[in-house]
Amino acid sequence: MARNWPIMNLKSCLISLLFGISLLGGVYSRIVSVPVGPLIRVEGQPISIRCDVTDYGGPDEQDFEWVMTRAQTDSQIKIISTFDNSYSHASLTRRVASGEISMNRLKDNEVELKISDVKQIDSGFYTCQTPSTDSEIRGNYEARVQLIVIPNTLKVSPTAPSPLVSESGDIVLSCNVTRELTQPTYLSVTWSIRKSKTLETEEILSFGPQGEVTTGPKYTRRYSDGSVRLVPGRNGVFELVIAKVTTSDDGTYGCTGTEWAHESSGQWLQIVESTKEMGPVAVTPIISDNSDQ
Ligand SMILES: *[C@@H]1O[C@H](CO)[C@@H](O)[C@H](O)[C@H]1NC(C)=O
Repeated sequence: MARNWPIMNLKSCLISLLFGISLLGGVYSRIVSVPVGPLIRVEGQPISIRCDVTDYGGPDEQDFEWVMTRAQTDSQIKIISTFDNSYSHASLTRRVASGEISMNRLKDNEVELKISDVKQIDSGFYTCQTPSTDSEIRGNYEARVQLIVIPNTLKVSPTAPSPLVSESGDIVLSCNVTRELTQPTYLSVTWSIRKSKTLETEEILSFGPQGEVTTGPKYTRRYSDGSVRLVPGRNGVFELVIAKVTTSDDGTYGCTGTEWAHESSGQWLQIVESTKEMGPVAVTPIISDNSDQ
């Protein structure tokens, strides 16, 4: 054991020496990060792309610039800068001036690029750059992420349920949710009811985007005892059956289709949704003979 001591001392000496140098001389290696792409978004929807910088020298508050290149061309188009008001390329000045394209500072070392209404021509590679404030150039001064803007092809077409159902009967809620598959996106469908009595909208059940079922709080028991059940869909048709109905099921039903992207970070992101009214259902009470006995 004793023999190892000098070696360990030498090692820890070296470590403290290196650590000392890094404190004194500012041994940093700048890292600029953006999300791992590609980011898939639907035309007409908002988008936010974050960028941060760490391990830099100089002032805490850092400057940022965004540039983009369209897939077909190599030329860089300047978008927006934290310090240069006349930075934007002529083709973007109007969108920047109107605030449709903006940059928010979230922290000294983090910003987000926002486009409130993304267009298909915005598809391309987005590069976040940070001008050097380091005493020596070391590390990465930019990072790039691909944005793919797809057209909105989400279609939600419900079939109107029978408008009159007698108590203890079934309500069948059929909803066709489709999209054109050009990029790996996922679908979910959610049924809801606006109750006639309370006029409140309650979620009944959601299916997807990974095939999982989640029930609204007031429907959990009925789903587990099988009186609310999902019928496996064909060709985009999702069917929900509510059995043994009571007058409290009286209301206007709706279905919502949602298209999702599965980000490289593992996060599921709603990229577009559409809600359609299915129609009103009136539940007619059964006049029970038993009550007279
Ligand atoms: C569902 O909607 C899609 C797109 O509108 C359509 O092509 C398909 O035929 C529909 N399916 C059914 C079963 O109605």
